[in-house]
Amino acid sequence: MLLNNFSPTGCPVGVAFLALRRYNKRKRSVMAVQQLDTLKQWISESERIVFFGGAGVSTESGIPDFRSVDGLYNQKFEYPPEQIISHSFYCRDPEYFFRFYREKMLPLGFEPNVTHRVLAQWEQEGKLSAVVTQNIDGLHQKAGSKNVLELHGSVLRNYCTRCGKFHSAEFVKESEGIPRCDCGGIVKPDVVLYEESLNSRVMDAAADAIYEADLLIVGGTSLVVYPAAGLLQYYQGDRLVLINRDPTPYDYRAELIFHNSLGEIFSALE
Ligand SMILES: NC(=O)c1ccc[n+]([C@@H]2O[C@H](COP(=O)([O-])OP(=O)(O)OC[C@H]3O[C@@H](n4cnc5c(N)ncnc54)[C@H](O)[C@@H]3O)[C@@H](O)[C@H]2O)c1
Ligand SMILES: [Zn+2]
Repeated sequence: MLLNNFSPTGCPVGVAFLALRRYNKRKRSVMAVQQLDTLKQWISESERIVFFGGAGVSTESGIPDFRSVDGLYNQKFEYPPEQIISHSFYCRDPEYFFRFYREKMLPLGFEPNVTHRVLAQWEQEGKLSAVVTQNIDGLHQKAGSKNVLELHGSVLRNYCTRCGKFHSAEFVKESEGIPRCDCGGIVKPDVVLYEESLNSRVMDAAADAIYEADLLIVGGTSLVVYPAAGLLQYYQGDRLVLINRDPTPYDYRAELIFHNSLGEIFSALE
């Protein structure tokens, strides 16, 4: 009915709605600009920035994450990916594990993006003390970062489980079936599988860096993978910044929050 299209003030509801949407959009972009200015200010005042990141840091380099709509967890496999990349699955069916690992988890030939580059730059300028990452792709180091605390290991390190010999990621990628060393031992990637514990030296160093941080920027992580996500509790400051496309369980803790892509924010900080 026509009457339903009009508000009590006589203004067509559709027009009022559009105006409200435009107003909200403008308000949001003003807020985003103000937030970005605050972030820039904090960065300029900081000397011990720590960046804590996850798979979302590398999506703009072309490596899919796990939990976004186009991430690995929303693709169809015979088993749930969490199961395939678990220690018990690796022991039970190493052949299937390595097939999945080679196809889906061994990101070779990718380049760092603006986020990796800016973080490396901040370290060089003496503003950033550490990058704590859940990623296993080695892109922070490729961008020039030195103090990278890899909580879940790296695909670039692979060791024979019998003689301990080092093998490259290319060796694993090009191998067939189960990758084997000259001695016959299985070559296992230095990547932390579900059910395996994290390297305590790396965890301690990450906790220390976060504890000492004057600005903690968390980005590209759903913050649901533990114990990594628990590291946030070590932060003592009042400048916690979250940059993540989707909401996270820690959003309420952040002083500044951006539901944007990291590329957008870091391009503005470059
Ligand atoms: N590149 C890699 O090394 C890689 C890739 C996939 C998974 N993983 C492993 O997956 C596990 C999953 O945990 P996780 O929290 O790191 O990943 P996740 O997949 O659980 O979450 C990624 C988060 O990043 C956000 N995101 C994606 N692209 C973004 C972008 N461009 N800008 C801003 N936000 C973006 C998504 O909204 C999502 O919340 C980790 O242990 C990690 O080791 C690593
Ligand atoms: Zn060997």
